[in-house]
Amino acid sequence: MPHTLKDVLPATARLRDDGHLEVGGCDLVELATEHGTPMYVFCTETFRRQARRYREAFPAPDRVYFAAKAFTSVAAFRIAVEEGLGVDVASGGELYVALKAGVPPESIIVHGNNKSDAELEMAVASSVGRIAVDSLDELERLARIAEAAGVRQTIVLRVTPGVEAHTHEYIQTGQEDTKFGMSIESGAALEAAKRAADLPSVELVGAHAHIGSQIFGSEAFGKLVEIMFEFLSAVREAVGLSLTDLNLGGGLGIAYTKEEAPADVVAHGAFVRQSVAREAGRLGLAVPILSVEPGRSIVGNSMLTLYRVGVVKEIPGVRTYVSVDGGMSDNIRPMLYGARYSALLANKANEASDKVVTVAGSHCESGDVLLRDVALPSSVGRGDLLAILATGAYGYAMASNYNKMPRPPVVAVADGAARTVIRRETYEDLIRLDLV
Ligand SMILES: Cc1ncc(COP(=O)(O)O)c(C=O)c1O
Repeated sequence: MPHTLKDVLPATARLRDDGHLEVGGCDLVELATEHGTPMYVFCTETFRRQARRYREAFPAPDRVYFAAKAFTSVAAFRIAVEEGLGVDVASGGELYVALKAGVPPESIIVHGNNKSDAELEMAVASSVGRIAVDSLDELERLARIAEAAGVRQTIVLRVTPGVEAHTHEYIQTGQEDTKFGMSIESGAALEAAKRAADLPSVELVGAHAHIGSQIFGSEAFGKLVEIMFEFLSAVREAVGLSLTDLNLGGGLGIAYTKEEAPADVVAHGAFVRQSVAREAGRLGLAVPILSVEPGRSIVGNSMLTLYRVGVVKEIPGVRTYVSVDGGMSDNIRPMLYGARYSALLANKANEASDKVVTVAGSHCESGDVLLRDVALPSSVGRGDLLAILATGAYGYAMASNYNKMPRPPVVAVADGAARTVIRRETYEDLIRLDLV
């Protein structure tokens, strides 16, 4: 097992003497034999460690919400709660799963750019801790819904700070072309704050922004803090409200390949808190309670996907296709945004990766390519067990039944024991919604 993949693999990954990869004390070869492939292997220890790193980086009273969208599952939500995290949901469905998992409603924040009345009613009726109001339209509807329910709903305003960040770079965009939130620059966000202050059925306590995903550095967040403080200050002046909640969204990146080096979570937290203290001092505002909403950086490296290798097709002078028994239905990210991953053979993890191949899925699509030009052992062949690493975020969450592929199971591993937390779909499941 190449040592350089250490930061990409789950924290408990270990190379056994027989060349098998082990995660959570479980031999992946045995696991695949028992549960079949494809399957997601979920290292709960890695998830817990990341959650704890976040709690260390943002200690109470600051809040850490696990972004449900990255991996919406009862098991993940329960661990998040055990580790002192709340949950950020972005739809009625995610809220439903969070409530079913037993997430305390007060530690749930509800997002969405187009929340329906039904979703708002559900959120209010379940006494969620925060609703991130995304538009003036939503504010008015929520106020009516809360009033009808006899509730004063706590809200934060989702604002557009004009900072967009991806990986190493961030840009400040004068014009904010996004469907999310209300613009600070245009004054829409301040208008919403004024309006909220006049509505007795909502209690405006803070502001929220989310600037992007797979962000490696902390600088963009420093810029975000500056802009958000200008907004908090403007609200205090124009509305006379001291907002006590500052929610900086998610977005910290992870290593998908050995070349990627994301920021350390604890160092990132220290940087953000320093920026906050500095801006609070500069503008004479109280230090707010910070919230963050990490998804990828908690769950990403905690999972890998195991596939069985089938047909290996050498096209002389062109490339070698290694086909596996899953594909775009269990991981759409390579096709959706050209995401790159690392892979190894879990049954031959001690062999050198000396052959460049392309790993294709089994879907009826030429574009169903999981990994382009990846090095695997030259002995790769039918029956080998291919592990694609760091598939925890937006993997299962985005899985589909395209080509009527049953979705794979998620098997949690820890301390040598494996537990199926999401079972494999059956063919029968595939027709459960057909009314005939
Ligand atoms: C509002 C909000 N919070 C949190 C997240 C989680 O982001 P990430 O998984 O990059 O940490 C997202 C993702 O898009 C988001 O839109």
